[in-house]
Amino acid sequence: MKNIPQHVAIIMDGNGRWAKKQGFTTRVRGHELGVEALRRAATNAAELGIRYLTVYAFSEENWQRPKVEVDALMNILMTSLSKELPVLQENQIRLHAIGNLDALPAKARAQLDATRAATAGNTRMVLTLALSYGSRQELTAAVQGLARRAANGELEPEAITEADIAQSLWTHDLPDPDLVIRTSGEQRISNFLLWQISYAELVFLPVLWPDFSKEDLVAALEQYSSRERRLGKTSEQLHA
Ligand code: IPE
Ligand code: IPE
Ligand code: MG
Repeated sequence: MKNIPQHVAIIMDGNGRWAKKQGFTTRVRGHELGVEALRRAATNAAELGIRYLTVYAFSEENWQRPKVEVDALMNILMTSLSKELPVLQENQIRLHAIGNLDALPAKARAQLDATRAATAGNTRMVLTLALSYGSRQELTAAVQGLARRAANGELEPEAITEADIAQSLWTHDLPDPDLVIRTSGEQRISNFLLWQISYAELVFLPVLWPDFSKEDLVAALEQYSSRERRLGKTSEQLHA
C-alpha cells in the first residue's frame, strides 16, 4: 500500500452499543472485546508499517460514568497491560501513555509504568494509550507551565513559539497524527488532541469498535491515501 501515514490516532468508540446490540446486560463485555479489537489494530498497524498508533482509551470526561463502569474499565486496563505484554514484545511495540496519569488508581499506574519499562527497547511502533486524557486539560497545563516560566523571567511572552507550545504538551515526543479514525458513526472529536490534529485527515467509520477489523483499518488507510493534503497551498503548487 502506498502513502502509509506515519501516525494514526483512533477514537475507539461504540463498545457500549456493541454490548447492547449483542444482548449483554452490561456494557463491560463491550469493553472486554474492545481490548481484542485493539490487539488486532495494533498488530495490523505495525505490520502495515505505521510507526505511531495513538488510541483514545479513556477520556477525562469518562470519569463521570457510573462507578461500576469506571471500576471495570480500570480493571480491564490493569489485567490487559500484563496479559498483552507478550504480544507487545513479539510485535516489537513500545507502549507509551499520555493523559492525567496521576488520576489513575495506583495499581494501574504501576502496571502501566512496568509495561512501559519492559517494552522501552522495542522499535517497530509506538502504541500510545490516551488515558484520563483531555485536550483542554493538556493545553491548560501547558499554558500554566509557560506562564510559570515567564513569571520566573526564563521566557519572554513575545518569544513563545508554536514549537514551545508543542513541547509543553503531553505529546511532546510524538509527531502530529496524519490520520484520525473514529468508529461507531459519531462525527466529533470529544476533546482528543485538538492542537495536534490541526491538519490531520479525519475518517469516520460506522463500525462499532469491538468489530473493528483489518479490512476497516485498510479502508481508512485507502481513504487517507486518496486525499490530497494541501496544507493551505493550491493543488497546482503541490504538483509543480
Ligand atoms: C468507547 O466506547 C470506550 C470508552 C469511552 C471507554 P463507549 O463506552 O463510549 O461505547 P458507546 O459509545 O456508549 O457505545
Ligand atoms: C470518546 O468517547 C472517548 C473514548 C473513546 C475513550 P465517548 O463515548 O466518551 O465520547 P462522547 O461522549 O460520545 O463524545
Ligand atoms: Mg462512546
